[in-house]
Amino acid sequence: MPEPDRTAQTHHATARLSVEGVRLQRGTTTVFDGLDLRLDEPRIGLIGDNGAGKTSLFRLLCGLDMPQRGRVLLDGIELHAARAQRPGQVGLMFQNPDDQIIFPTVEEELALGLRPLGLSKRDAIAQARTLLAQRDLAEWAPRAVAGLSQGQRQQVCWLSLLIAAPRVLLLDEPFASLDLPGQARLARDIAAAPQQVLVSTHVLDHVRSFGRVLWLERGRLRADGPGHEVCAAYEADVARRLQASD
Ligand SMILES: Nc1ncnc2c1ncn2[C@@H]1O[C@H](COP(=O)(O)OP(=O)(O)O)[C@@H](O)[C@H]1O
Ligand SMILES: [Mg+2]
Repeated sequence: MPEPDRTAQTHHATARLSVEGVRLQRGTTTVFDGLDLRLDEPRIGLIGDNGAGKTSLFRLLCGLDMPQRGRVLLDGIELHAARAQRPGQVGLMFQNPDDQIIFPTVEEELALGLRPLGLSKRDAIAQARTLLAQRDLAEWAPRAVAGLSQGQRQQVCWLSLLIAAPRVLLLDEPFASLDLPGQARLARDIAAAPQQVLVSTHVLDHVRSFGRVLWLERGRLRADGPGHEVCAAYEADVARRLQASD
């Protein structure tokens, strides 16, 4: 079971991300047209069918994609300017680990996130090994990432983000390939993270306790409110659609 949400605690350093009148085109698809969001809460869940726009929203929020119209702001500053001033503010854990992982070995991949902080390669590798050892994964350090399972690669992606420690963590279906202990550990890590965390998932139990969940439907915000309410509304809608198609 996921850990209880700790949104009531005040130690979270919440950044202020906002999306204003955003239009996003990907290929020939208009994903968003006039999307407005203020993302202030320390824990925000993102749910909705495949193709609803969850990944597209995360790509906008971390600056991988630029809107054709409208703005994405971090603390009131256009995201690209904010990132140029101070890199490493918003980090994305990709849905597919192979889109994220760059280096051949686990320790090099984890060390990558520390280099922007000014660490030498040697010190970065040493810190990566320490983190792995703390998690009883010391033997992963020299291993080839390609020789890990999908779920293990997803764990490496999470650890890279954890070690790089950006102010905002965007996790795109992070539970998808994890085994049950892996899911429980990640849920615990998310609950303990001092940063703002946004999580997209189809495993609703992982966001039900969040103070805020957004339900995206074909690029529009269908619902926005407390996790238990929005998750229940989405589940009821799915049940209705299944019934209607019987
Ligand atoms: N690389 C791409 N090129 C063109 N269209 C894309 C691409 N990726 C996603 N889309 C389209 O954008 C829409 C939103 O997709 P996406 O953000 O991946 O949804 P989700 O993550 O909720 O499944 C879908 O209609 C999808 O077909
Ligand atoms: Mg997606």
